[in-house]
Amino acid sequence: MTALFKPYTLKGVTLRNRIAVPPMCQYSAVDGLVNDWHESHYTSIARGGPGLVIVEATAVAPEGRISPGCLGLWNDEQAAGLQRVAAAIKAGGAVPGIQIAHAGRKASANKPWEGDDHIPSDAGGWDIIGPSAVAFGKHLPKVPQAMSKDDIARVTQNFVDAAVRARDAGFEWLELHFAHGYLAQSFFSVEANQRTDEYGGSFEGRSRFILETLAAVRKVWPEDLPLTARFGVIEYDGRDEQTLNEAIALTRAMREGGLDMLNVSVGFSTPNGNVPWGSAFLAPIAERVRKEAGVPVASSWGIDDPQVANRVVADQQMDLVMIGRAFLSNPHYAYHAAMALKQEQPSWVLPAPYAHWLERYQRG
Ligand SMILES: Cc1cc2nc3c(=O)[nH]c(=O)nc-3n(C[C@H](O)[C@H](O)[C@H](O)COP(=O)(O)O)c2cc1C
Repeated sequence: MTALFKPYTLKGVTLRNRIAVPPMCQYSAVDGLVNDWHESHYTSIARGGPGLVIVEATAVAPEGRISPGCLGLWNDEQAAGLQRVAAAIKAGGAVPGIQIAHAGRKASANKPWEGDDHIPSDAGGWDIIGPSAVAFGKHLPKVPQAMSKDDIARVTQNFVDAAVRARDAGFEWLELHFAHGYLAQSFFSVEANQRTDEYGGSFEGRSRFILETLAAVRKVWPEDLPLTARFGVIEYDGRDEQTLNEAIALTRAMREGGLDMLNVSVGFSTPNGNVPWGSAFLAPIAERVRKEAGVPVASSWGIDDPQVANRVVADQQMDLVMIGRAFLSNPHYAYHAAMALKQEQPSWVLPAPYAHWLERYQRG
């Protein structure tokens, strides 16, 4: 059996293979609610054979949505819809995960295919918050309201409440969105965070929101289920070695605070990053975090070639491979990867009503 198709156990959860579908916003919700689109999307992806499916960035509070089309988990009606999605993912044979998020100063934006830019508060958008009154810039020019300590405590509690709802809705894998320039990442960013109180300044200050939120969620998330985070460990802004060293130190502190895995990503805290896009470009960085912080890691970004996906696992650069857009292109990605890697009986990564026929079809 190839490395990519070996089962993987983390805490009390076993994935059937190392292929995970990372969170991917569908921008298709109204009032944060699941609808037919989400149910069919997640059902088809789970049936396609991945070990884990992580539901898209789901906002912990209304002002934390990236766009008006984002899912939410701040009320029970939203939780009921997500319960159906979790059950559908499980019925497809994958472990149901969810990413809970607050978009901070990148919130109140149009859907990507409608401009991706900030929606003014008087045109259907809303007022945004951040560590400091510093705008992201470029297409996201809105200046956030600098959060008071009460605001910080409220948002941490929003994460806790969303984690409880996710747990009760049947999710077995939780990912805290600490990446991509959204609220938590911007607390860590020296550009976005200009605070002079204990939530800013030094490494300890810029790490505080992340560590406090993780600790608060850890208290309500079951010990036997993986508690993970996605975090941008590098910005590609010229300060990379310093950012990476600090990020590894913070990951170690997160591990000590109960983190079970890090989904290694890019910070995207600034519009001026010069990201070296290319096949599996983050794999060496993920490997470094895995070794130096001593935590299991997952990562994504251009790992869709099955040979590459298999190699990064076999070489112990990462424990799980996140395959995003390739699953949008082909929800049966795992089946095609199993064929490409000459797995025995590759079609049995799919459910029997497909696998039975495809097995015969391949034999001819
Ligand atoms: C449509 C779309 C939506 C995304 N939404 C999220 C999200 O909700 N949360 C997140 O952390 N990353 C999000 N991402 C980033 C993906 O999780 C993934 O890291 C990215 O697509 C790179 O992996 P890939 O090269 O396999 O597609 C999104 C990407 C796409 C294409």
